[in-house]
Amino acid sequence: MPTTFLPVGAVVHPQRVTQDRSWLIEQEGFDPVREPEFETIFALGNGYSGVRGALLTKIASSTPELFLAGVYAKKTIVFPYAMTQEVVNAGVDDAFAQLVPFPSPLQVSIKSPSCWLTPNEAELQSLDRVLDLHRATLHQTLVYKSNQGQLTALLSSSCASLAEQHIFMQDLTIVRENHETPLVLELNGPTEDFALRYPHLRRGSSTALATTPFATFDLFETAGSQFHVALASRLLLNGEEISTPNIELPVSAGRTMRIRRMIAVYTSRDCPDPATQVAEYLTHQTWGDLDGLWKNHAEAWQAYWEKADICFLGAPDVTQAQRFNLYQLRLGKGCDDRVSIGARALTGRSYEGHVFWDADTYAMPVFLCSQPQIAKSFLMYRFHTLGGARRRASTMGHPGACFAWESSVTGDDVTPRQIVIKSSGEVIPVLTGEQQLHVTADVAFAVRQYFHATGDIEFLQAYGAEILVETARFWASRANFRDQGYHIDGVIGPDEYHFGINDDAYTNWLVRENLAAAIDALAVMKATAPESLDKLHHSLNLTRPEVDRWDEVKTRLFIPRPNAQGVIEQFAGFFDLPQMPPIEPDQTTRPPLLNWLGVNSVRRCKQPDVLMIPFLIPSAFDPGTLRANFAYYEPITDHGSSLSRPVHAAIAARLGLAEKAREYWSTSLRIDLENLMGNTALGFHVGCAGGAWQALIFHFLGITLGNDGPTLDLQRPRTLPCSCQAVQLKIFCQNKTWTFNISNLSGDYRGE
Ligand code: BGC
Repeated sequence: MPTTFLPVGAVVHPQRVTQDRSWLIEQEGFDPVREPEFETIFALGNGYSGVRGALLTKIASSTPELFLAGVYAKKTIVFPYAMTQEVVNAGVDDAFAQLVPFPSPLQVSIKSPSCWLTPNEAELQSLDRVLDLHRATLHQTLVYKSNQGQLTALLSSSCASLAEQHIFMQDLTIVRENHETPLVLELNGPTEDFALRYPHLRRGSSTALATTPFATFDLFETAGSQFHVALASRLLLNGEEISTPNIELPVSAGRTMRIRRMIAVYTSRDCPDPATQVAEYLTHQTWGDLDGLWKNHAEAWQAYWEKADICFLGAPDVTQAQRFNLYQLRLGKGCDDRVSIGARALTGRSYEGHVFWDADTYAMPVFLCSQPQIAKSFLMYRFHTLGGARRRASTMGHPGACFAWESSVTGDDVTPRQIVIKSSGEVIPVLTGEQQLHVTADVAFAVRQYFHATGDIEFLQAYGAEILVETARFWASRANFRDQGYHIDGVIGPDEYHFGINDDAYTNWLVRENLAAAIDALAVMKATAPESLDKLHHSLNLTRPEVDRWDEVKTRLFIPRPNAQGVIEQFAGFFDLPQMPPIEPDQTTRPPLLNWLGVNSVRRCKQPDVLMIPFLIPSAFDPGTLRANFAYYEPITDHGSSLSRPVHAAIAARLGLAEKAREYWSTSLRIDLENLMGNTALGFHVGCAGGAWQALIFHFLGITLGNDGPTLDLQRPRTLPCSCQAVQLKIFCQNKTWTFNISNLSGDYRGE
């Protein structure tokens, strides 16, 4: 069932629905098989929490989960990793190995006299779900027919407040359409499967539980990591407060009943005693303030959209898809400096909520141009996890800091060590945790990018410089000297099909950038704040000879040059590998992991490596080199990662390959809206959405961020990513907002 446009307005929701359809994601009808995918698409959140957009009433095939940023636990059972076919078996024995799924606080169970209103027991006659992106509110309308023919309509509007991150709100209308029989509403519903579905959780107790008049009050403790989480709710039925989770809805309550809920959550990440805190917080809310809470939420989103929105004039479907991605990205990250964004944000279990380079390299720039305080918080997460990065470097026998390929709470590496193919039982070692080192240089690149666009010297002095120094230190030690130069050996580049390789083009290029960024940062500090430079020298035991050595490694680091055909070798020996059979045009999946060892020894790429360089540094290659490398690598790349296509879109756009560029971009933009990787059920693809945004801004449109604000190259022939009259957007840079209006032929922009 495609996600289609529906006539909105046929039903009246208690909270208003935006009428402009390019702000709406709408779905009609019930398909239990696709339900997990829709739950990702209709997710709600605010960076603190993320809750999947499950049906209001429970169904068997669903994963109605709540995730809380930074709340991880020990691995308890085998969960899906990247795909349902693969499972992470033995992994690190880490207390923070998995982002914890909690039960959704937004589902309810309703019983008519003869049956529960679930698709199993009653007939779900109709279902409409509308996600209003502008107000970040999910509206649902369900009509159930009981086995005795009673029709009951359920209309709900729910949100996770962006203005008050601890609160969810729900407005529910229940209509006895053709009957006058009593109904029962259960807030926590049947819980027999709790242990199976939520194996990380133990139920807790607190004295606060006994004294509060709330409808629900749940305490949880997480396995291994001992986070405490308190969730409580208050409920108003037709204006009267009810303090029990099992609520009789007698006939005297009327044909149409309105139920309003406030649900609050606190964790031991916020305060020492979340149970008391949540109780106090909810007690202080008054029903009279509830409309105000909804309004504040809508205004907070309005403020976000004023900065982040992108409009494709004449192409509302593209505007809608872009808004969906910007909405989803915001769900995954707020201003908490101790968390970053996981590869699937707070919308699904895939990749166990781990933070990859997707965060710094793909997602951070999106925030940099609209919410620099959130962009900074990505980097502050890296600063706060320097401890783990230092331990990792030290385990490898090097000084400085090496960021984990996959990290969670402490910055220690939580990459699983092996994957098991469910169907065959084959065990495949995962070497990325040991060898995919480029993430360290990616973090340094993001620090430099942030400083370049904001000029935030306080950040550089207090945090950024330390990241740059410690990472430069690591690389200077990790580089091996031979054949008159320095080499980085034994790594995995962004193209994960090849391991144990030497002189990976992308890694070496980014390492050189990392060393340069560290040297430049020290020079900036010397010129602007010599005292803080002295402090840094002292605290990090940094000496002039050490910095001179970085300079020497930087200058003599091996950087592969284009061959006679203009092609840069992805890593030493890549050109000598045998070519794999050509990729069929409609092949969208990578070779099965069963061929994992085989893939290592052929010329086949999962995602770009050489092309990543001009994606991040557009001036890196001259036009001839860019063309030659795209022509060489594109046909041998199978886009096994969702991060691949946006990079191809960007480079094709730079080369003026309009049709190819648009195709790659459109697929990247809609990767989840149309479930194009087939795994949207496991969560939203953060990196792909960030990559599509960067492809648009920096490559299709040709905007560059600079010391004096953004610039638009008006001379360059421009390819727009779709057929539209113009693209309108704002970019925040150097403390100013710049408004752009760009068409194929012209472009104007101004700062205010
Ligand atoms: C990709 C990585 C990416 C990770 C998480 C992998 O399949 O190869 O580049 O960081 O997924 O999105």
